[in-house]
Order: sequence, then C-alpha cells, then structure tokens
Amino acid sequence: MPGAKQQSAASALLRTFRPEDFETLYEIDQVCYPREIAYSRRELRWYLRLPGAEGIVAERDGQIAGFLLPANWEQVGHIITIDVLAQFRRAGTGSALVRESEARLVRQGVKTIEIETAVNNPAAIAFWNKHGYISRGILKDYYPGGLSAYAMIKSFGAAASGNARS
Ligand SMILES: CC(C)(COP(=O)(O)OP(=O)(O)OC[C@H]1O[C@@H](n2cnc3c(N)ncnc32)[C@H](O)[C@@H]1OP(=O)(O)O)[C@@H](O)C(=O)NCCC(=O)NCCS
Repeated sequence: MPGAKQQSAASALLRTFRPEDFETLYEIDQVCYPREIAYSRRELRWYLRLPGAEGIVAERDGQIAGFLLPANWEQVGHIITIDVLAQFRRAGTGSALVRESEARLVRQGVKTIEIETAVNNPAAIAFWNKHGYISRGILKDYYPGGLSAYAMIKSFGAAASGNARS
C-alpha cells in the first residue's frame, strides 16, 4: 500500500518514502553510523533506485524518527539499512520498520531476507537476533576502514506470516 499510512502498536506512523524526505534521511544516516560507513548522498540515491527499494519511513511526534531501505534482488530480500535516531530508540520503531519491510517483501514472494551488520555493533546484533535473523558467517573487511560484518539471514517458510518473531 504505497503512500498509505499505518499506525503501529508502538505508535510509530509508517509510510512510504517520498522524494522530499531525502535530505532528512541522509542526515539521519550521518548521525546513525560512523563517518566511514554512513552513506554519501550519491550512495543513498543509488540504493533508493534498487529493485524493490521502496523506502519505509517511521514518524514519531510529527518528525521522521527512522527509516529502512529494503531491496529485492531476484526474489532474495535484503535490508540495505535501518536507521533510528538515538532519541527514539528502544521504543519499538526499528521493530515496526522491520515487520513492515518483511511483510512487503514476503508479499513480493521473497523467501529469505539478508542483512549485514558490523561485528562491533552489539545493539544491532541483539536487534536482529530478536527478529529471528541468524549469522551464517563473517564477511571480512566488509566495510570501508576494514571492519568486518556478520552476514545474517532469516527464512520465511510456507507458514511464515511476515511478522517478526519477537
Ligand atoms: C538497531 C536499531 C535500528 C534498533 O532500533 P530501535 O528502534 O531501538 O529498536 P526496537 O526498539 O524495536 O528494539 C527491539 C529490540 O531489539 C533489541 N535491542 C535494540 N537496541 C538494543 C540495544 N542497544 N542493546 C541491546 N538490545 C537492543 C532489544 O531486544 C529490543 O527489545 P527491548 O527494547 O524490548 O529490549 C537502532 O539502534 C539504530 O538505528 N542503530 C544505529 C544504526 C544501526 O546500527 N543500524 C543497524 C545496522 S545493521
């Protein structure tokens, strides 16, 4: 339902990315990640043009609190990035974004969703574990600067509803 708004149980308002959001998303990404990992405007634009990359924006208190960029590469789902501003964390915003992106990707026929997360990011690792993502290995020197990443994956079988198992 592109463009439609949804109120999650945790009170984040979810909606599809609009072009006028771009600068805010760029600024959020700059403060959510270390300088060498945060996306340039050019990279962010490129990711927003990937197949299935319909960004999902979460609003709280009338402002953009976070966003998630998904992709669908030949029926393999990917979460390119998820960013929640520090002042809005631990309130269910990230979970609402993940649940919505999983539901959208599963509706597109995706059976697995992949993400990469830095090995030194315990918050993200705990977050993904809580949502049923498991590590299938380490990608050495994955990020600029040489930081390695866990390659994480979640499968959606016939019985999967697309809801996170949290
Ligand atoms: C990771 C991130 C998206 C989580 O967003 P959030 O809105 O805080 O997530 P939620 O409130 O939905 O958290 C859901 C669960 O994840 C786990 N979790 C989230 N942050 C955590 C932390 N700092 N420490 C431990 N567990 C954490 C908890 O199990 C949490 O449930 P609880 O609050 O009931 O204990 C957010 O911290 C963020 O944007 N970080 C910076 C960017 C980043 O690292 N992105 C992920 C890269 S792959």
